[in-house]
Amino acid sequence: RVVAVIMVGGPTKGTRFRPLSLNVPKPLFPLAGQPMVHHPILACRRIPNLVQIYLIGFYEEREFTLYVSAISNELRIPVRYLREDKPHGSAGGLYSFRDYIMEDDPSHIVLLNCDVCSSFPLPDMLEAHKRYGGLGTVLVIKVSAESANQFGELVADPVTNELLHYTEKPETFVSDRINCGVYIFTPDIFTAIERVFTLRKDTANLRRMNSFEALQSATKTLPADYVRLDQDILSPLAGKKKLYTYETLDFWEQIKTPGISLRCSALYLAQYHYISPQLLATGNGSKSATIIGDVYIHPSAKVHPSAKIGPNVSISANARIGAGVRLISCIILDDVEIKEHAVVMHAIVGWKSSIGRWSRVQAGGDYNARLGITILGEAVAVEDEVVVVNSIVLPNKTLTISVQEEIIL
Ligand code: GDD
Repeated sequence: RVVAVIMVGGPTKGTRFRPLSLNVPKPLFPLAGQPMVHHPILACRRIPNLVQIYLIGFYEEREFTLYVSAISNELRIPVRYLREDKPHGSAGGLYSFRDYIMEDDPSHIVLLNCDVCSSFPLPDMLEAHKRYGGLGTVLVIKVSAESANQFGELVADPVTNELLHYTEKPETFVSDRINCGVYIFTPDIFTAIERVFTLRKDTANLRRMNSFEALQSATKTLPADYVRLDQDILSPLAGKKKLYTYETLDFWEQIKTPGISLRCSALYLAQYHYISPQLLATGNGSKSATIIGDVYIHPSAKVHPSAKIGPNVSISANARIGAGVRLISCIILDDVEIKEHAVVMHAIVGWKSSIGRWSRVQAGGDYNARLGITILGEAVAVEDEVVVVNSIVLPNKTLTISVQEEIIL
């Protein structure tokens, strides 16, 4: 039996995702028309003998109520949100709910960061984990040497795949193989976390007894019940024949900024060809708009037949897209109205926003740059014939004149 746990974090964690995280918890922001967390949940569904999925976070309970009940019904597998009263760190959060997790007597626990976009090769990873026979297996990917320091860098034995060395976001280069934030553990992970608690207590007691500078380690500032999976568990257990790695050659991205979410939306749309082709718009039928490449259109959205949509576009519920509109590489959220002949390119258009006739909302499309995509927050109104380029517009603004490279507060 397998239990899956997805760490969703909480409101203080989503600041780089503003202004979009002002309206919706980041894990529920739609990528390819489905909430971010939906994609790892679907991947968990493919694990044999999966009995339960938990989302652990410190968002308000009510923010997840509707979603978890809908998805539990749809997948016919219980999905439950467990709320921490305060952040306990990625391993501490898992530990706080060990009684729930162990209720089903699982042989394996699949643990996922919510803010990664991946094909999540979980069944294959589980098989590999069983072969290795360790406490845990970490999903790993090769990235460019320049970008590796944003992640946990690691070294694995090329033959046995044992994790030999692990450093979280190191200042000097260690390896271009990084931690993807996707793990499989045996229930012994709880004992490993417990050891960290004990060690913390012992260190605190020692510190009380003597005031050596040497004991004033980094752990000093952390609360005793705050345990990080990477620094506190993976680093010390590396090289002890307990942890192993499974390398993916498929896609993987970390979703920290809205710009990257546009890239991830494209990756998930492309994945629909294999896992959910029915979600892709086909453009067949006389009343359909022209569809180019991968496009998702919610069934309740109304798109004029003369509009041209794609590639990489997702249109959420109740959006209205007028005649002659052109949409390229964008996420259009619920209840948006785009009037005749407007163009939206490399942009995210927030809930209930409206874009006037012959207007343009666009950006250069460098997804890594701060203003590489244009973002309209909730209920932004762009009037007719206004051009918005490489800009971020906070909620409830009305744009009557054109802007470029601006953050409109
Ligand atoms: N419930 C809960 N409680 N979730 C948490 C907490 C917490 O106290 N702290 C973090 N998380 C969640 C975040 O929402 C995220 O999904 C995941 O745990 C990891 O977050 P961080 O600990 O902030 O680490 P990171 O995202 O900067 O980096 C981690 O993930 C990378 C892969 O995306 C590290 O493990 C890196 O090594 C790794 O490369």
